[in-house]
Amino acid sequence: MSNTKDADCSYQSLPATKLIHSVRSSQNYAGCVNNPLFATSTIVFDSFESFVKADNDKEISPDKIYYGRYGSKTNTDCQELIAKIYDCDFAKLTSNGHSASVIAILAFVKSGDEVLINDNAYYPTRHLVKELEERFGIKAKIYNPFDIEAIKAMVSDKTKVVFVENPGSLTFETCDILEISKAVKAKNPQTRVIADNTFATPLHHNPLKFGADVAVDSATKFFLGLSEYMCGSIAYNKHDALAIEQSFRLFAPMASPVAAHACLKGLRSLGARLKAHTDTFNYVVPKIASHPRVKQVIHPSINSTMGHENYKKYFSGAASIFSLSLNRLYNDAELAGFFNSLKFFGLGYSYGGYESLAIPFPKSLQSIRTCGMPAFTQTSNIRIYLGLEDKQDLLNDLLNALDNGLTD
Ligand SMILES: Cc1ncc(COP(=O)(O)O)c(C=O)c1O
Repeated sequence: MSNTKDADCSYQSLPATKLIHSVRSSQNYAGCVNNPLFATSTIVFDSFESFVKADNDKEISPDKIYYGRYGSKTNTDCQELIAKIYDCDFAKLTSNGHSASVIAILAFVKSGDEVLINDNAYYPTRHLVKELEERFGIKAKIYNPFDIEAIKAMVSDKTKVVFVENPGSLTFETCDILEISKAVKAKNPQTRVIADNTFATPLHHNPLKFGADVAVDSATKFFLGLSEYMCGSIAYNKHDALAIEQSFRLFAPMASPVAAHACLKGLRSLGARLKAHTDTFNYVVPKIASHPRVKQVIHPSINSTMGHENYKKYFSGAASIFSLSLNRLYNDAELAGFFNSLKFFGLGYSYGGYESLAIPFPKSLQSIRTCGMPAFTQTSNIRIYLGLEDKQDLLNDLLNALDNGLTD
């Protein structure tokens, strides 16, 4: 039965299976296992009446295919799968993760409104504070996600969005998303809580179940898993559909159908990839954590990492991206020894692909953070992403760089 039809996933609670068997209609496509790639600018309608209906419905039905600028059937297939896995009404694919955050925020604000963004958010998101105010007259403030009383005090009837990336970028603190949402809604029930869930993916954490209204993901990362195309996603429910659709139509940061197709195919294997990443993390990290040149491993699953208790409460797992806090400050020439001796870790941004990566923390981190989130200034720090290579090779590579790339 499931060879050609969308399998009935309603009885299954296990998301990895849902990701494989949902939104596949092979019977419509000559038995193809994968949904075809629909690339088009024009969508033609089979009658005047259906054209007029689509025109009327275009903003209230975000999954309507109408004109190529808003996506093709490939985009809506991928969106349907993302909505299924978030267990929400809709998802929207955008051109990259950053545009997903921007479109989601701008859906709910106009000049004179306020937005709150967490201190440890991904830098381009945090930087929106300046841009929103200077360009659009939207006051944006930075908050400490661990200070619930301060958040309460900051929320007013002007506050339309509280953005929370959880865990935070680079330093991986996990905040209490439910308590933040409760505090925000108690002060202003109209405020939307938007969660950046890129690190966890909906397989490890669903912020929509813990008070958030909207979840955004950089689908570039784990969803695609290929370090190939860029894509973002916004997951949300009916009551926010019009606002998000209007914001999307205003800026039109459509994911190309090629990227949507890659994302759809990538999502099929997300469950298996996350398991492999976790297995590698569990093998490699304890063995490097005790290295004399490592002071601390920073990752939500490790109890010395800030907010570990929230991780245990709200997350079912974590991927293989973490930071190493070294035993002291190293200068650039010394750090070059570490990075240049790595064989399997590329020096480059991003994560979630098949290949391992490593980057130093930006030197400006302390000055970027203004609300007391740690910047680990007493040590040199390196963010590491463990890809899908053999875990023993990755371990050997890191141990070699720690032993021989650095000096005392
Ligand atoms: C947590 C987080 N959110 C958003 C983004 C932006 O995603 P993209 O690079 O797809 O624009 C990134 C990228 O690194 C990220 O790490």
